[in-house]
Amino acid sequence: MKTAIVYYSMSGNTKMIAERIAKELSADMIELIPEKAYPDKGMRKFLWGGFAAVMSEKPKLYPYSFDAQNYDTILIGSPVWASNVAPPIRTFVEENKDSLKEKRFGVFLCYAGGGADKALEKLKKLLNINRFISELVLVDPKEKSAEEYKDQVHTFCESVKY
Ligand SMILES: Cc1cc2nc3c(=O)[nH]c(=O)nc-3n(C[C@H](O)[C@H](O)[C@H](O)COP(=O)(O)O)c2cc1C
Repeated sequence: MKTAIVYYSMSGNTKMIAERIAKELSADMIELIPEKAYPDKGMRKFLWGGFAAVMSEKPKLYPYSFDAQNYDTILIGSPVWASNVAPPIRTFVEENKDSLKEKRFGVFLCYAGGGADKALEKLKKLLNINRFISELVLVDPKEKSAEEYKDQVHTFCESVKY
């Protein structure tokens, strides 16, 4: 069975890590894209996105290709928004609730430095699970050299393998 990487990324940090994990695990990537893009500049970026996250919004997504039957392991990738996962992740979980039962879940989050623990707890609740098979939390990796996070990414990949 294969591994799916389901992720949302506004400014490329989570996407970059998703690509690295996909390469190492030969996993399929499923990018979630809201039909109505969140503002990505200035204060509006934090206000709109933060509000949507706090309100547990489930934005409508562009069609994506995901057949849960093909996967036993699902790695969810998201930036931390207001100590939460980004809203498109909520839409995905809601839309696939039944087919996600009995899957193994790993998670990778990118953030600026606060609220990842809360986001992890909220995601567990959303998925109705007690624990992830593995967790990877990185501070804005795009601003760092690959050298700085490559070991963490590798350890994460190893830990999600059987
Ligand atoms: C709406 C919004 C809310 C955010 N809230 C948090 C937060 O609560 N804690 C934090 O550490 N970073 C927060 N950030 C920063 C992002 O989590 C961080 O820059 C992340 O690496 C961005 O990932 P991306 O490039 O994949 O979008 C927020 C960013 C946005 C746009």
